[in-house]
Amino acid sequence: MVNVLVVGSGGREHALSWKLSQSPHVDVVYTAPGNGGTQNNVPLTVNDLDGLAKFAKENNCFTVVGPEDPLAGGIVDKFNELHLKIFGPSRQAAQLESSKIWAKQFMKRNDIQTARFEIFDNAQKAQDYVNSLDYDVVVKADGLAAGKGVIVCNGKQEALDAIQTILIKKTFGDAGNRIIIEERIDGIEASYIALSDGTVAIPMASSQDHKRIFEDDKGPNTGGMGAYSPTPIVDEELTKKIQEKIIDKTIQSMKKEGITFKGFLYAGIMIKDNEPYVLEYNVRMGDPECQPITARMDFDLYDYLTASAEGNLSSLPPISWKKQSAVCVVLASEGYPQSYPKDEAITGLDSNFENGFVFHAGTKKQDGKILSNGGRVLGVVALGDSLDSAIKNAYSAAEKISWPHKYCRKDIGKKGLSYL
Ligand code: AMP
Ligand code: GLY
Repeated sequence: MVNVLVVGSGGREHALSWKLSQSPHVDVVYTAPGNGGTQNNVPLTVNDLDGLAKFAKENNCFTVVGPEDPLAGGIVDKFNELHLKIFGPSRQAAQLESSKIWAKQFMKRNDIQTARFEIFDNAQKAQDYVNSLDYDVVVKADGLAAGKGVIVCNGKQEALDAIQTILIKKTFGDAGNRIIIEERIDGIEASYIALSDGTVAIPMASSQDHKRIFEDDKGPNTGGMGAYSPTPIVDEELTKKIQEKIIDKTIQSMKKEGITFKGFLYAGIMIKDNEPYVLEYNVRMGDPECQPITARMDFDLYDYLTASAEGNLSSLPPISWKKQSAVCVVLASEGYPQSYPKDEAITGLDSNFENGFVFHAGTKKQDGKILSNGGRVLGVVALGDSLDSAIKNAYSAAEKISWPHKYCRKDIGKKGLSYL
């Protein structure tokens, strides 16, 4: 038996811990730093690589990294040097997410379909470029900006303002030293996540996120307000196209360039005229996509994560998924993604959730109570025999939970239903 150390503190990490703790190979699952819902929390931050390595060594852990920050900071390289077992991409491989410019240039030289783009570090040149275009653009800060460094623009003025915000006002600090200006593609968005060992890539179940804060995709972007799996938007034909033209090609091109990509490869896809375009790569599971995806897993996740780390995924049998649909409704604090209250006591967590589970995100345990401690507080996941019934089950579970400034979108999954 081994122990597992899950690094992170969000809903994604709660879901991973929950699933990994079901493996017959796993003894104790620790989470660092974890949240109010995770068990065996270890008080180490995700960027304390020395502390995490020491803990993993002393406790005989296989380490699973949830968020991008420690991956971009080289946690996998460090653990490998110390001969500690770990799941996730190396620092070099994590550049697919940590530098949007690196990722765009990688796609361009390897002929992976993405929006056409130019790169700038000079605001005047960027503005002249925008003025010369006859289409709408998206302006992106190069580096990690907690999901906020992307500005989708309507018209020239918004694009000029976005350049000002990132390059002159430095709203995202050094992450905005360089920007990408790319064509805005108006289509349908989906998340496509695969698990790779550097040679093969196994697709996870399809899913769709809801990034905007308000119903009908209005308001500012968030980390994600809810997700469901599978999504009818990614049908069999599109799955094949995305797998071959994007995922397999990415893994093979990385390999050709001397980089072994191990871990979850997440492609944020825009589908237009039945063609998939990569909007972004992430080098980890999505949050909240991870929650409904793990709820549908009918296999031992531990086996597959260790095989990814060891480079022998092709020796394992094909994975299988529960036929049911899963929906995750994120319960947030009112005011998110801007400012919001914290430390509000949450009630109803001990209710009976038939067909459902609650994954914690921004919560903490204090004096036996669970308090809100972040923007996205909980993810309520439910299964159902159809997308429609999973939605109903998720909302009826979500209703049982309350705190003074609870907020959630009421239309999670509706995009899938209207597509059907
Ligand atoms: P990213 O972090 O690059 O995925 O961008 C965040 C969000 O901005 C995406 O989920 C899309 O909704 C939107 N977005 C990014 N790039 C584009 C694009 N080229 N065209 C349209 N929307 C985009
Ligand atoms: N849900 C989108 C992300 O994890 O980046």
